[in-house]
This record gives sequence, C-alpha cells and structure tokens, in this order.
Amino acid sequence: MNEPSNKIPGLASRQSAIRLLDAVCRRGETLDQAMPAATGKLSNPSDKALAHNIAANVLRWMSALDAMIDSATRNRLADDAKPRMALRIALAQVLILDTPQHAAISTALPLVHGGPRRLVHGVFSTVMRGIESGELKLPDFPEIPGETLDRWTHVWGEDVAHAASHAWAKPAPLDLSFRSETVGELEGVQLAPKHLRMVPDLPVTERAGFDEGHFWVQDLAASIPARLFGEGKGRTILDLCAAPGGKTMQLASAGWKVISVDNNAKRMERFQDNLRRTGLQAEEVIADLMDWEPAEPADAILLDAPCSATGIYRRHPDVLHCIGSRQIADRAEGQRALLDRIAPWVKPGGILVYAVCSLEPEEGEEQIEAFLERHQQFAIHPVLPAELPTGILPTENGCIRTLPNTLADQGHVDGFFIARLIHKS
Ligand SMILES: C[S@@+](CC[C@H](N)C(=O)[O-])C[C@H]1O[C@@H](n2cnc3c(N)ncnc32)[C@H](O)[C@@H]1O
Repeated sequence: MNEPSNKIPGLASRQSAIRLLDAVCRRGETLDQAMPAATGKLSNPSDKALAHNIAANVLRWMSALDAMIDSATRNRLADDAKPRMALRIALAQVLILDTPQHAAISTALPLVHGGPRRLVHGVFSTVMRGIESGELKLPDFPEIPGETLDRWTHVWGEDVAHAASHAWAKPAPLDLSFRSETVGELEGVQLAPKHLRMVPDLPVTERAGFDEGHFWVQDLAASIPARLFGEGKGRTILDLCAAPGGKTMQLASAGWKVISVDNNAKRMERFQDNLRRTGLQAEEVIADLMDWEPAEPADAILLDAPCSATGIYRRHPDVLHCIGSRQIADRAEGQRALLDRIAPWVKPGGILVYAVCSLEPEEGEEQIEAFLERHQQFAIHPVLPAELPTGILPTENGCIRTLPNTLADQGHVDGFFIARLIHKS
C-alpha cells in the first residue's frame, strides 16, 4: 500500500526528486523546466531546495551510483526502472548529502510499490555493507556522462575532460558582480574590477548588501561579454536575449543606455526584479528577435544567444544528460538564424559581441567562422589580455574560450565562447 506522504517526514521531497529525475532522464527536460510541476505540491522552499539538491546530485554522480547498484544485483535493473531511481536517490543522500541511512531508506521504499520494495531494501543493505567493509567507495570525482565525455575528449583533449570531472566534484564558488567599484565589507578574491569570488557557504540573499542591490550573482566568465564594451558614457546598446538581466545590469552600471530584448515573459519578471533591487535602468522589450527590430542601427550590440548550455554543467548537471549532437545542431541552427537577423542592425564602425555558455565549437568557434564568411563586412576585433579577468587570456585570434581547466586552482569558471566583431565599413 502507498503511505500518504505526510505521514513520513521528508517523503514529499523525495517524491518530487523522483519526478524531477524522471523529467530529465525520460523526457529530456532541464531541472529548471521540471521544477514547477515536480515540486508544485511542496509549500516550503527548503523542501523544494532539498528535492532539487537530491536530483542534482543523482545526476552528477549517476555513473558511480549505478556501478554500486549493479554490483549488488544479479539481474541488471533497467536504467529508467523505479527501483533504480529510488536506489540512486537513497544512495546519493547517504554518500553525498550525509543523510542518515534509516532516513534515506525509509523515504526511498515508499517510492516503489509492492514486490520491488524488497529488492530496493536488499540492494541498499548490500551496498551499505560494501561501503562499511571498504569494498565499495564513491570515487573522488564524478564521471562526465559517456557521450559528452567522448565529445569533449575528442574536441578539447583528455586533460580538459578530466578537469571537467574535477570541477563537478565540488560546489561552484559564488561569483558576484558589483554595481560599482566598491565591494564593501564582503570578503573574497577579486579577479576583475567589480567582481568578488566567495565560498558558497551562505545563501546570497543573506550577504550584506544584497537587499540594497549592491551586487548580483554572475559567474566570472559570464561577466566577460559585457566587459568588452567598456564605458558607455550614455551611448545606446542593444542587449539581445537579455533575461534574467545579468549583462544588462553590468552594461547599465557601466553607463550604457540599454535596450534589453527577450522573448520569455517569465524570465523577464526576474529581469524586472533584478533591476528593481539594484536600482539600475534599462528599456525592456518582450519580443521575439525574429519579429522585432530596432528603430535604427546601433553602435553596440550584445547577443547572448540561447545555446546548449553545456558550459554551465557545474550548476546545471542535467544538461549533460539531455544534450547530445542533435540538440547541439538544433541550437547552432537557431544561433545562425539570430546572427543573420541582427547583422544589419550593427552600424558601420559598430561592435557586435556574440556569447554562448557552451563548450561545443559548433555553437562557438565554428559559428563565428561561418558568420564571417557570410558577412564579410565584419571582422574579429581582438580582445586584449588587459580587458580580461586575472588568469584568462584571449585565444590566438583574439576571441575568448573558457574551458573546464580555466582557473582550475581558483575554483574554475563556466565554459563560454565569446567573440567581439567590428563592422568594418
Ligand atoms: C543565455 S540566456 C540570456 C542570459 C542573459 N543575457 C543574462 O546575462 O542574464 C538566453 C536568452 O535568450 C532568450 N531567447 C531565446 N530565443 C529568443 C528569441 N528568438 N528572441 C528573444 N529572446 C530569445 C531566452 O528567453 C533566454 O532568456
């Protein structure tokens, strides 16, 4: 029989976690997309956070958890079978989140019905005995899922693929971008102007200066595209694909008059919250770039294009389970269409910065190479080392490519490709 979830403390979060995993592994949704439906019944934000945390850790450590499960079963459980999911959830809690064994198993068993419960209990107990005897052990680093590992090893080499596993093992540091040069009383490492890197030991909302809007969360690599425009001095810039507004806030605080366009009304609500909190201003347009066009060509345009997001795998472990070559090709096609659409909006002499948080050359290096062949009025306007955060250098041709081994000793950065182009005539 199915126990009502309110009788077993913490069960509702685990039920949401299994729904999240089902959405990612079977339907190819991202965790963010799946959160509203999967956690809708949880009223407490900390229960929602727990469900997300369990699912994210299962996704990160999935191959190690599966190896343990497989070592304890004679007949291999199907990848998407409920007993395997329940076991992944229970083991991730004990081995990664330090949940006591009894709490992990008592909330895992009700996730499966009937006979398989005995199976789940048996496998869990066998794995626990293996852990206690030292026969089984969680590896030091999670393994990047097979297809992605093969692709990254092929494109970037083994060292980068290893660095990706290392980066996945620990929570990413907290990077803050500041409205002004003053970072106040907060302690951290400053790797660029208006930046501070901190240990993620406290929610950002509890840091001094958050309510006053002194800063916002933004990975150091994500802060590079806006830095490449310098001071605005009241000039106009188009921030295309702008929500939730990290780059708009940087540009506005650097003195640009920003026109921010995004087609996602929900994400634009977060954009509005961010601007309200920081007291920064921008003209906001909710529109599809394939329909909208500016009143006149601009001196400066930032296109932070929608992409596979494989570069942000540390905070979004789901991407490596739902992105494959088909999705990468789809995203690259979309970027090509956006680039062709906006190219005529750049004034002669104007600057276009193109950015993607992707580790796939099809969306980065190859995308821009093909763009320059199609639009010969543009050329790369090389980025200089002095424009970049400490420890990040431009590529040979003056673009930027951050990889899993970039700033590895300081806590890594997200994977980005960024190109600054100039309209020559
Ligand atoms: C990488 S995110 C932008 C992040 C944002 N620049 C920041 O720094 O906070 C890409 C954005 O592109 C938007 N987008 C995707 N396709 C679009 C389109 N055809 N027109 C307008 N916006 C689009 C998405 O809604 C999403 O918010």
